[in-house]
Amino acid sequence: MKVIRIHQTGSFDRLKYEELDPPVPDKNEVLIKVISASVNFADVMTRSGTYPMMPPLPAIPGIDCSGIVESVGENVTQFRPGQPVAALGQGCYAEYMATDAGAVFPISEDIDMDEAAAIPVNYLTAYHMMHTMAHVKEGETILAYAAAGGVGTAVIQLARLANVTAIGLTSTDEKADYVRARGYDHIINYKTEDVVKRVKEITGGKGVEIILNSVAGDTFDRDFKMLAPLGQIIWFGMAAGLPQTNLTEQLGVGFLKSAGIRTFMLPSIFDLDPTLMARSSEILFNDLADKKIKPHIYERIPLSEAARAHELLESGKVQGKLILKP
Ligand SMILES: NC(=O)c1ccc[n+]([C@@H]2O[C@H](COP(=O)([O-])OP(=O)(O)OC[C@H]3O[C@@H](n4cnc5c(N)ncnc54)[C@H](OP(=O)(O)O)[C@@H]3O)[C@@H](O)[C@H]2O)c1
Repeated sequence: MKVIRIHQTGSFDRLKYEELDPPVPDKNEVLIKVISASVNFADVMTRSGTYPMMPPLPAIPGIDCSGIVESVGENVTQFRPGQPVAALGQGCYAEYMATDAGAVFPISEDIDMDEAAAIPVNYLTAYHMMHTMAHVKEGETILAYAAAGGVGTAVIQLARLANVTAIGLTSTDEKADYVRARGYDHIINYKTEDVVKRVKEITGGKGVEIILNSVAGDTFDRDFKMLAPLGQIIWFGMAAGLPQTNLTEQLGVGFLKSAGIRTFMLPSIFDLDPTLMARSSEILFNDLADKKIKPHIYERIPLSEAARAHELLESGKVQGKLILKP
């Protein structure tokens, strides 16, 4: 089978298009013929060597996809060959990938496979940050970093379903137009506008209940100034690198209004309760089938051109989701 592999971390050219034998599923695994592999910022971080959960090298990148069940391990009874599925698991930049049956989600025959591939990482992350962690309530206000990205697109669609006000941050006017068209109530270009001032204006001085921050770097000082009483920052990525903020000092600032910061990593939902992952994925794939949510596919790119996909995602130009086609 054709795969993309990384032997050494570094720039785009580390993504090598190679030939390998397909994986053999173990007794609890499902072997999937990949139709669409999604490109996540986590893949860019894995390739560059900065991802907190680095796979051993050489590694096949890609952590979610959609496809058709090819075969199942001896303990797997809930899937059958020929069935369309989406899945989480390492090694999706390939013609075949094997993953634990608990990380495989059945989908209906008529679902668009590119859209299905865009659901697991982006939408489950948005869903669990908003519902499992923040217990978002109708009438609250949520602020999302990277609003034009894959997770940012998921956040606005789930915010609409939960009747919360959404503020999206982005870096260009072109992406601001995309964010507006997706339904964000307020859009702030953080390169040209005073974010804290705008948020205070939008919320009548109160601040926001939830901030979904995937950027880190020097952004947390600003976040603490925008939190409503009891508000929380959910820190789930570090596109701009590790925090440069003194978090102990900022927690002291937030103390008087009971405001704080928490971290989120999607795999922790499996650690907490695998049935929770199954229930949430069922909700999201039903919402996809019912057209209540719809990923925006920015571009479909041949697997052999994965390096171009990474270059594009890293350039910050992507609006929505990139999909690789083996
Ligand atoms: N913890 C988890 O379980 C989990 C799960 C999924 C995703 N994530 C994280 O969520 C974030 C979004 O993922 P995604 O796949 O949907 O990617 P994405 O949002 O499509 O792409 C990254 C976006 O981040 C923004 N950004 C801000 N500062 C940046 C910087 N210094 N360098 C590069 N980009 C920067 C850019 O948007 P603007 O130019 O508009 O700011 C860029 O387009 C990533 O950081 C990812 O690691 C975490």
